[in-house]
Amino acid sequence: MSGLDDVIAAETRLSEVDGLNGRLVICGHNLDALAGQKSFEAMLTLLLPDLLSTSEKAVRAELAQARLQAFRAVARLDRDLVSLSVTEGLRALMARLPDGEDKSVAMLQVAAPAVFVPALIRAKAGQEPVPPDAGRGHAADMLAMLTGDQPSEERINALDTYLVTVSDHGLNASTFTARVVASTRAGYASAVLAALGALKGPLHGGAPGPVLDMLDAVATPDNATAWLAGEISCGERLMGFGHRIYRARDPRADALKAALNRLGAAGGMDAGRLALAEAVEREALAALRAAKPDRVLETNVEFFTALLLEALGFPRDAFTGVFAAGRVGGWIAHAREQIETGRLIRPQSRYVGPKAA
Ligand code: SDX
Repeated sequence: MSGLDDVIAAETRLSEVDGLNGRLVICGHNLDALAGQKSFEAMLTLLLPDLLSTSEKAVRAELAQARLQAFRAVARLDRDLVSLSVTEGLRALMARLPDGEDKSVAMLQVAAPAVFVPALIRAKAGQEPVPPDAGRGHAADMLAMLTGDQPSEERINALDTYLVTVSDHGLNASTFTARVVASTRAGYASAVLAALGALKGPLHGGAPGPVLDMLDAVATPDNATAWLAGEISCGERLMGFGHRIYRARDPRADALKAALNRLGAAGGMDAGRLALAEAVEREALAALRAAKPDRVLETNVEFFTALLLEALGFPRDAFTGVFAAGRVGGWIAHAREQIETGRLIRPQSRYVGPKAA
């Protein structure tokens, strides 16, 4: 009851998370027909068909203009923002954007995280922000705004694969939050801001950074068994494992591991890091099976997310912000779907407090 487990709180045409069989369908397409196959712009034409043109080229141009508009908010990157975590800095910058339910608000919300996250990372390193380039695709421009260089095709494909893979995932906590806020007709900016707050939590989108902390703590494959047993015996949760819906392996884990392998050493993947991660994953799954025999605890999306975003040059403090850059497409799509229903989301609660006199 407390986590609304198994409660159907909405009907959606956007995505189906088949937890028993470990399958994810987004807008009628299996994940393996999307991840590594489509650009983020193409994914947006599927998620927002009634808002955007069906032409990927047109969406690419519209999104590029929205990045240029978002960059104007970056010019006001004050010192306070830079002292916050990247996620909190992103939240503060997103809060500055105009609200409402028209298309320009939606496009700016979708574009902004890809502009703000690199700018915040660079500002925290004492570097000037790199302006967007309207001639680039979204993933390419996000990487270029991070490093200042033209990214390789391998790195662009890897980020595109990530943004597409995490773009939508049923009624997860942040998407449900977006729907609740959109249902009050508060506007897309309010819905996205609330969703970003939910995503920040380590039980949700805040998990990928701590996955790297875990790999650093284990340090070598030989240490994995003892370190993991120690964590589990202290009642700690292993970041990157377990899921409220999946009782099988999260299909996104393998989609992102494949993207990491396609990236390869030339694209920034560290083979030693991957070997350590595979050893930790093996030992973690065995330890979780032994500790919780009655609960399927499999690898979830965050485990290989951590290695992929690290290989692409994002600091772990920014992983949640990069997650938001992909998931914002789903948040806006669900907000529009909720608005279309015309219904305020307002569940009941059972009062168990003291009786009134
Ligand atoms: C995301 O919902 C979505 O779709 C989310 C997401 C998306 O795309 O939006 O997929 C993204 O949030 C992925 C999950 C990222 N979070 C983590 O990796 C953090 C670690 N995972 C856990 O905290 C946990 O698995 C949750 C929060 C993800 C799900 O937990 P539930 O469904 O609330 O399960 P639970 O807390 O009731 O746990 C059941 C049992 C418990 O043991 P007992 O108390 O019954 O003895 O399993 C144990 C838990 O302690 N358990 C774990 C564990 N996850 C659950 N034990 C050790 N390590 C873990 N990771």
